[in-house]
Amino acid sequence: MRFKLILFFVSIFFLLFLFIRIESGKKHPTNPIAVDSADCWTGAGLYQIPVDSTGNSIRFGRDLISNTAHYFGPQGTVSHSTNGMNCQNCHLDAGTKPWGNNFGAVASQYPKKRDRSGKIESIEMRVNDCFQRSLNGKPIDSLSKEMRAIVAYLKWLGKEIPKGVKPKGVGIENLTYLNRAADPIQGQQYYLASCAQCHGAHGAGMPAIDGIGFLYPPLWGANSFNDAAGIYRLSKFAGFIKNNMPNPTNYHHPSISNDQAWDIAAFVNSQPRPHKDQSGDWPDLNKKMIDEPFGPYSDSFTEKQHKYGPFNVILHRASQSQHAL
Ligand code: HEC
Ligand code: HEC
Repeated sequence: MRFKLILFFVSIFFLLFLFIRIESGKKHPTNPIAVDSADCWTGAGLYQIPVDSTGNSIRFGRDLISNTAHYFGPQGTVSHSTNGMNCQNCHLDAGTKPWGNNFGAVASQYPKKRDRSGKIESIEMRVNDCFQRSLNGKPIDSLSKEMRAIVAYLKWLGKEIPKGVKPKGVGIENLTYLNRAADPIQGQQYYLASCAQCHGAHGAGMPAIDGIGFLYPPLWGANSFNDAAGIYRLSKFAGFIKNNMPNPTNYHHPSISNDQAWDIAAFVNSQPRPHKDQSGDWPDLNKKMIDEPFGPYSDSFTEKQHKYGPFNVILHRASQSQHAL
């Protein structure tokens, strides 16, 4: 009897010990987050994708991001529903490059409430936002094998990041605001000197040799992102090009200054591009980003100032009115 009792307690302790080990193992994942020499998140590459049936879907998702035009472009094998750009044209190296508009924090942050739509957005909804705005196209079916593959890739890419965390180097860097309005005329000079040789004097880019997608993607005109796209906001455009253009630049060795990045952004985003009705965006005007170029706003600054700046004054006024509440 006594022996049985001891055995009982010993087993309980053993089980407890095992439970604690498993739990603490969960809190300290065995795979550390991959970072570069300056501690910026960097994504895993093609050859790190597992070789099994889940791996196949992840690999297909990566391919859809890199070669979107092949599947959904004007001559797409799945449908003809985009402008012929690839996701990778803006989400560099399949969304793995530090400060290259990467996908590091998608898995850790979605579903999340987004102020632009005022809704809780799933990864699928966010991907379709880019299909409709950045690729000036139609949304794809959330249950299609293509969407499932894109989501599988995004989840795999961000699997080491704890829920809610956004590591350094993820997305697009926020550049310091200028104390003046960004200058499209000055920007045009810089554009002609540093960008036009690839993207063209008229911003149309250059088609790929096989006719599918672009060797150099367009920056304005009929085949470019529409005016509801995130990169149409000056801060996103400037932050993206500062660390990544002229291609291939990285944030360790940028070749344009902050001032040049803002001025070039002002020039490119003053050129014509497809329009999308966005009257349903930003249902709460107090949450609207200050560089959204279309009104209405909760303040009395003009559309022009919201588009080109100076932004510090708007920010200052906004924080004052918040203090007054
Ligand atoms: C013209 C440029 C462009 C193209 C092309 C593009 N995107 Fe985006 N995408 C953006 C910008 C800009 C953001 C917003 C980044 C930010 O808010 O910092 C974004 C955000 C995202 C996000 C959310 C990232 C996050 O961390 O919140 C996902 C997911 C996404 N894009 C997927 C895609 C997919 C999939 C495609 C192709 C079907 C695509 N994008 C094509 C520019 C683009
Ligand atoms: C040597 C050629 C080259 C030069 C010069 C160059 N780019 Fe690019 N740019 C590219 C390529 C190629 C891509 C697509 C990258 C990819 O798919 O990996 C790209 C992508 C882009 C994108 C995102 C996709 C799009 O079309 O909207 C923007 C914005 C951009 N470049 C702006 C600029 C600006 C501004 C400059 C000048 C500061 C510049 N680029 C200079 C080749 C170039």
